[in-house]
Amino acid sequence: MREDNLGYFTEETSADVVIARMADTANPRLAALMATIIRHLHEAIKEMEPTQAEWLEAIKFLTETGHMSDDWRQEFILLSDVLGVSMLVDAINNRKPSGASESTVLGPFHVPDAPELPMGANICLDGKGEPMLIKGRILDTGGRPIEGATLDVWQTNDDGFYDVQQKGIQPDFNLRGVFRTGADGRYHFWGARPRFYPIPDDGPVGKLLAQLGRHPYRPAHLHYILEAPGFETLITHIFDPDDTYINSDAVFGVKQSLLAKFELIDDPVRIAAEGAAGPFHEVIHDFVLAPSA
Ligand code: BEZ
Ligand code: FE
Repeated sequence: MREDNLGYFTEETSADVVIARMADTANPRLAALMATIIRHLHEAIKEMEPTQAEWLEAIKFLTETGHMSDDWRQEFILLSDVLGVSMLVDAINNRKPSGASESTVLGPFHVPDAPELPMGANICLDGKGEPMLIKGRILDTGGRPIEGATLDVWQTNDDGFYDVQQKGIQPDFNLRGVFRTGADGRYHFWGARPRFYPIPDDGPVGKLLAQLGRHPYRPAHLHYILEAPGFETLITHIFDPDDTYINSDAVFGVKQSLLAKFELIDDPVRIAAEGAAGPFHEVIHDFVLAPSA
């Protein structure tokens, strides 16, 4: 009998025997996480009873996922996204106080060095798509405006691509920018009406979705990171509620509170008042930041 009294590895004792090997760890958090993973993984294998050929297929899928990944293309994050795990980790780590705006996935297309722009600037540098005015306030949970908050926004162009997916085709920093609020907490800027687009689906995750009868699309949205001293950073989106894919986001990022109203403005008085060349879309959306812990 071995010194942990569990005996040799058997089908019945499999998880316990593996977990017992970590008894001498200097990293108890890692061992606790691994024990949970090992227990659930062994349970899943016992439930599924895969053939050896099926298990090899699973290993090949993970290998391809690794081969597809580099600093730019994070296929494992994409896998976590389409399995709903990214949104679950996000939910667990972003339980907000009542009234605060909700978070959602960051996604792979944020760039940290987008230019800070004057309030009212147009972030649409390629001139494509339908013009859209986006405005609102950044508030605390007491409804007071937050001065000096930054709003970092990024969105796809009318062809459904981020600038970083089309280097040399779109202007650098097309449809992204940072805005800073004044004392009234208000923001406004011009962009282009977003449209639905597929997550990168030319790799193993895309193949998996296809085999599962799932589409790769995300409903039209704008991404935001909101930051202000004394407040928790908020990573979120606003979504077009009328989008075809609003109820089937490939990465499960939609929440009721993130649905914004996209309104077509064709009243000549409003068009003139905003200095627009013609009809435009308008989205008015307030963000409420939670105080930092
Ligand atoms: C995005 O919205 O940019 C995104 C999010 C998750 C996976 C791929 C793209
Ligand atoms: Fe996106």
